[in-house]
Amino acid sequence: MTQYKIPVIGGDGIGPEIVREGKKVIDAAGDVFGFDVEWIDYPHGADHYLETGELISEDTLKELSKYKAIYLGALGDPRMTPGILEKGILLNMRFYFDEYINLRPIKLLDGVESPIRGKTAQDIDFVVVRENTEDFYIGIGGRAKKGEKKDLLEVKRQLYSAKFGLDIETDSEEIAYQIGMISKEGTRRVIEYSYDLAKNRRNHLSSVDKANVLSDIYGFWRENFTEIGKKYPTVQTDFNYVDAVTMWFVKNPEFFDVVVTPNMFGDIITDLGAMIQGGLGLAPGGNINPSGTSMFEPIHGSAPKYKGMDKVNPLATIWAGALLLDTLGESNAANAIVNAIEKNVSAGIVKTSDMGGTNKCSEVGTDVARIVKEIGKK
Ligand code: IPM
Ligand code: MN
Repeated sequence: MTQYKIPVIGGDGIGPEIVREGKKVIDAAGDVFGFDVEWIDYPHGADHYLETGELISEDTLKELSKYKAIYLGALGDPRMTPGILEKGILLNMRFYFDEYINLRPIKLLDGVESPIRGKTAQDIDFVVVRENTEDFYIGIGGRAKKGEKKDLLEVKRQLYSAKFGLDIETDSEEIAYQIGMISKEGTRRVIEYSYDLAKNRRNHLSSVDKANVLSDIYGFWRENFTEIGKKYPTVQTDFNYVDAVTMWFVKNPEFFDVVVTPNMFGDIITDLGAMIQGGLGLAPGGNINPSGTSMFEPIHGSAPKYKGMDKVNPLATIWAGALLLDTLGESNAANAIVNAIEKNVSAGIVKTSDMGGTNKCSEVGTDVARIVKEIGKK
């Protein structure tokens, strides 16, 4: 029997309880698909930080980098300044493991009602591939008080004067700036991954960017997209501005197959995607490095007010577990889990309150695990 070792970071808020259900379902899949998982728990999150001062150490990251896949619940705690845990643990891992693909399926399951009137499971079935290591997430920026960073202000002054003949005040009280950077290689690898994915789906790849305004950075993105596309003559492509795409996701979701987009736009449009597929309770994500360590998580947060109540929807995390198994090469088990989620929601009997039910988080996990076993035994 194949043996896997999988590190688990339950994290904060509802993280531990949703991940418990995910493990339950993966264990059930292992029973029927012939593998066994040894779960290795890691304590990282707010409690651990407040006790020890450690967010996640280099030693821990090194240790984790020996594994192919990590299972993550959620991070974020009201006792802490927003961003500390998110940047110190989540983004830190995405960057350290160079998980340059953030794969976010937007799929309306049979039995789930989309908030978009008249749209069915046939209409909403696409994948967003979010670049996950560059763009405005590189963490370079800062603030400057009067008299500092004169160079940045000088650039702005010269631009205004050259373009508009305006002489602007350069000695502003205070400025803030944030740098967005994308590299040729960083862009190539995520776009190539997306073309390959499109080839295995419906042969349609959409770029989402803002090349009309942020033309240096996203003009470069488009150039690379077009150049790489020459290797994929059968894939149909189009360019979309991010503002317009928020409209198309709602108006014509059936248009999309694979969507590739830089980091920040990917962050934004996947929350919208989650809504059109029925809510954050149903949206999984994978942070993938195809030749290294990947990490799987629901895209929602830690929902601190529901902590310990066994109440929230575990389906996003269970689905993320299916993405994890796919990465390990257990695609039959992965498919069985997605089918089981679909059967659970289309039966519409065992469901949490966000889906109009009265069941507990753990009851939903148990139900999906039961269905996975049924599918596996057939
Ligand atoms: C996400 C989250 C994170 C992000 C936060 C928590 C840092 O919103 O995974 O989409 O911005 O990437
Ligand atoms: Mn987000």
